Amino acid sequence: MSSNFVPLTAQELVAKINKIPRVSLALLPTILEFAPNISKELGIKLYIKRDDCTALAFGGNKTRHLEFIMAKALSGNYDCILTGASSQSNFCRQAVAAANKLNLDSFLVLMHGIKGKMMQGNFLLYNILGANVNVVEGEDLEQIPKHLDIKYNELIKEGRKPLLIYGGFGKEDTVLAGISYANAMAEIDLQMKDQNFMADHLFVTAANMTQAGCELGAKVLNWPTRIQGVSPVYWEMNIKKDIARICNEGAKMLDVNLEFTDSMINHDNNYVGEKYGAPTTDGIKAMKLLAKKEGIILDPVYTSKGFAALLDYIKRGIIKKGENVIFMFTGGSPAVFAYNEELSKSQSLD
Ligand SMILES: Cc1ncc(COP(=O)(O)O)c(C=O)c1O
Repeated sequence: MSSNFVPLTAQELVAKINKIPRVSLALLPTILEFAPNISKELGIKLYIKRDDCTALAFGGNKTRHLEFIMAKALSGNYDCILTGASSQSNFCRQAVAAANKLNLDSFLVLMHGIKGKMMQGNFLLYNILGANVNVVEGEDLEQIPKHLDIKYNELIKEGRKPLLIYGGFGKEDTVLAGISYANAMAEIDLQMKDQNFMADHLFVTAANMTQAGCELGAKVLNWPTRIQGVSPVYWEMNIKKDIARICNEGAKMLDVNLEFTDSMINHDNNYVGEKYGAPTTDGIKAMKLLAKKEGIILDPVYTSKGFAALLDYIKRGIIKKGENVIFMFTGGSPAVFAYNEELSKSQSLD
C-alpha cells in the first residue's frame, strides 16, 4: 500500500464509484447470508455473498460487470450488442438479457466448448432470450476477439450499429468489471458492520476481473482479510500480473493512491482439474455438500471448484477453526442442466 494512502469508508468508495457512468441492471445490494448448517459442519463461520441473486436472467457476477460495461449503450448510438465466448457462457447470457432490457438486439459469436452443441443451460437460454447466435469453429477461446471483429464489420456493412463488447478479452472492460466488484466490497463492508464481524478470508472463483475488484475494494477499505482467488482455468499468461494491472487501472479510475503488484495476489489454480469447463470430483462433492446443508446450488464450472478449494483450505489449516469466511457466490447455476450426466453419475458425498 502506498505509505500516504488514507483508507476510505464504504460510503466514500461508493461516492467515487457513482461518478463512473453506469446503467442499472442488478438488484443490489445482494444479501450476505450466514450459512449456519455448513458452518457447524466445518467449524467456521461461513457467509455467502449471494451474487447468484442479482436478478437478471438467473443472475451472476456478470450483471454487476455489465452495469458499467454497457453504460455506453445509453448514448443512443447503438441498435444492438455484439459479444462472444463459449457456448455455455454466463457472461453472454447476462449480456443478452441486459440488451433486452435496454431494447437492443443481440449478436453472439460462440465457440462450442466442452458441452458441444447441447441445447441446454446457457446455450438454451440464449435461444429463449432471442439472441442471434453464430457458432465458429475451434476451441481456442483466445480467437474470439478476432471473430468478433469479423462479425462487427459484417454488421456495419448491413447498416447495423453494434456495441462491440469484448468483456474479459478487452482491457477497458476488465477494469470496469473490476470497479463493479469494488462496489460489491463496499456493500459487504456495510453488511459486515450490520452483522458485527470482520472476514478473515474471502474466497472468489475468478478468472481475473472479479478477483481484481475484490482486491481493490479490500485495500481501499483497509480490510485485514486474506482474499483468495480460485481459478477455473489454466492460463498461459501471468494472471496475477493481469489482476494487479486491473487493480492499478481501477485505482487510477477511482483516483485512489494505491499500487498493486502480482506478489500481493493469492490466486490458486490447483482446483481446475483436467481443464476449463470440466467438472471435478471434489467440485461436485463440494456442490452437493452445500446443496444438502443449505439448499444452495453452485455451478459445475466455477463456484463448485472455488468451494472445493475453500473446503481443502480448511483441511490444510489455512482457514482455521472459528474463523469468519466469506464465499463470493458468483452465479452460473443454469449450467447444471448442461452437466446432467456428470452430476447425476456422482451420487454420494463420500
Ligand atoms: C459463475 C462465474 N463465476 C466466476 C467467473 C469469473 O469471473 P471473472 O472472469 O470476472 O474473474 C465467471 C466468469 O465467467 C462466472 O461465470
